[in-house]
Amino acid sequence: MSGSPLLAGVVGWPVGHSLSPLIHTIWADRAGVDGYYIPLAIEPDYDSFARAMDALDAVGFAGVNVTIPHKEHALRYAAVASDAARKAGAANMLTFAEDGPYADNSDIAGFAAAVREACDEQSLKSALILGAGGAARGVALALKELGVAALVVANRTRSKADDLAAAFGLTAVDWDDRDSTAGMADIIVNTTSLGMTGQPPLDFDLSAANKTALIADIVYSPLETPLLIAAKARDHPTVDGLSMLMHQAAPGFRAWFGAACRVDGALRADLVAELKRRSGP
Ligand code: ATR
Repeated sequence: MSGSPLLAGVVGWPVGHSLSPLIHTIWADRAGVDGYYIPLAIEPDYDSFARAMDALDAVGFAGVNVTIPHKEHALRYAAVASDAARKAGAANMLTFAEDGPYADNSDIAGFAAAVREACDEQSLKSALILGAGGAARGVALALKELGVAALVVANRTRSKADDLAAAFGLTAVDWDDRDSTAGMADIIVNTTSLGMTGQPPLDFDLSAANKTALIADIVYSPLETPLLIAAKARDHPTVDGLSMLMHQAAPGFRAWFGAACRVDGALRADLVAELKRRSGP
């Protein structure tokens, strides 16, 4: 494909809401890269995903980010997978390498980087994870990478909290005990979809939380979820979903467009402006 623009994209269903094309386009402009990063809506079943990946590989795509509902599909499709992707049981990156598709997971390092930016990781000894879905698995792995020794998970469906706890050596508690458990945590992370635009807010009482606990939310639409608004009102340090999103994007850009990129205030400002534009006047 010599002389042709570099091609990459994001694959999901739906995918229209994704901020990834904007992030990559900003980085490509900054680096003077001749490349396109395209949103691709691929139907939810594995066969549709696999057919689309075969086609993208054939036309010369360097790689794609993969989002819901295809993160497990990406791992299944890959010839080789990184440790991170195998441990998480999901991949958010697929690179079309010479020797076959390679699956990786930058959600884990992305969340860890966002937390490192907000606090001294040495101060994090204990964590409370709210939710036990795919995102919670990545967050649990990131917290372990950050050296957090005591991890507790609370989930509405207790059996899923038990499964996650058994897989990663966490302690599971009932969803109804989430508020009373908060006091043990140096970091509290919402990995549920609660608080997202169109969803009810997360019902979580911060009054029992450690005053210095870092409050993180993986939701980025809205950027300031009710949880983060309540946390800021109580002077907690916070991490929003946009930080994680920007950091998870960087490895794909470097791999597929072969250039350097930076997560910084200017990028955040452009993304915040786009989120504001989308939420209307
Ligand atoms: P993801 O892969 O993005 O984490 P998921 O696997 O569907 O998505 O997980 C969504 C998480 O949000 C789950 O922990 C889910 O709880 P259940 O396991 O009980 O379904 C949680 N969640 C969604 N709606 C919720 C609600 N109304 N109250 C409490 N938890 C909720």
